Amino acid sequence: MTYEEKLARFNAHIEAGGKVETEDWMPDDYRTGVLKFIEMHANSEIMGAIPEREQVPRAPSLKRKMSLTAKVQDEVGHAQLLYRVAEDLGKSREAMFSDLVNGKSKFHNVFHYPTKHWGDVAIIGWLIDGAALVTQAALLDSSYAPYTRVLKRICSEEQLHLRHGEDISLELASGTESQRAMFQDALTRWWLPIIHFFGPKTNVEKDLLLRWKVKTRTNEDLRQEFLDRYVPKVLELGFTFPAPVPFHDEASGHWLIRDEDIDWQPLDAIKRNEGPETARRLALRKTIYDTHRWVREALAEPAVHAA
Ligand SMILES: [Fe+2]
Ligand SMILES: [Fe+2]
Repeated sequence: MTYEEKLARFNAHIEAGGKVETEDWMPDDYRTGVLKFIEMHANSEIMGAIPEREQVPRAPSLKRKMSLTAKVQDEVGHAQLLYRVAEDLGKSREAMFSDLVNGKSKFHNVFHYPTKHWGDVAIIGWLIDGAALVTQAALLDSSYAPYTRVLKRICSEEQLHLRHGEDISLELASGTESQRAMFQDALTRWWLPIIHFFGPKTNVEKDLLLRWKVKTRTNEDLRQEFLDRYVPKVLELGFTFPAPVPFHDEASGHWLIRDEDIDWQPLDAIKRNEGPETARRLALRKTIYDTHRWVREALAEPAVHAA
């Protein structure tokens, strides 16, 4: 069969809702696109462990400390699962990790920002894990089958993270004036990054991953679901949004944000690895990566050491 014939058969299979396994034939663009996508997801999980980990010493009770520590551990576990799926597509974990710590690959914008206090833990657990859950649930039906299998487990753990975040948020919201101020301060700082999290409007014509059903929905569609689900809850608790301020559109019944109200510059800076915490966090990961090299080497060659 020629490449064109294989490609036509592959496209028809995807069009009919078919799934792709690692050993199946796939076009090079599909393989590299899926690999890059899952690698970025894995990077985000492992980088996402850092901002929350920094707040563990600030947990107000032992119970909160345990739930936050468990969540951080889950995120590292998600990275582990995702790197395994990604490496089957032809890039070693060593290479992926090296690219991450040397700033050659990407991780999600929200993990380029600092956490300042316990209010950030509430916002991350509730709204950022909430946003992640909207995007990840949409990927459960992705055309790349190995990805959907690990996502099932990841999503069920994300549900727990969401409940942990919602519980902390409700506690702060029903607490003292300074607890409410803490939540509002974190919301004010995180709102724009959360809106950016979904990315700019998808170019449907050019998005190969969407055409091949690796992704199933557009960025704006996912953002809309998030806004409709969370904006009323935040307002009900008596908090206010900074720009871009969502408004209720009576005609459609949706909570909307005007495109022109979104300042994309901070996201563009993050894409150049120039976010507020990018350099510090990557340096931290790189230091751990370098100082732990001997552990990886010792584990990789047990037979040599045993002899
Ligand atoms: Fe996660
Ligand atoms: Fe999570």
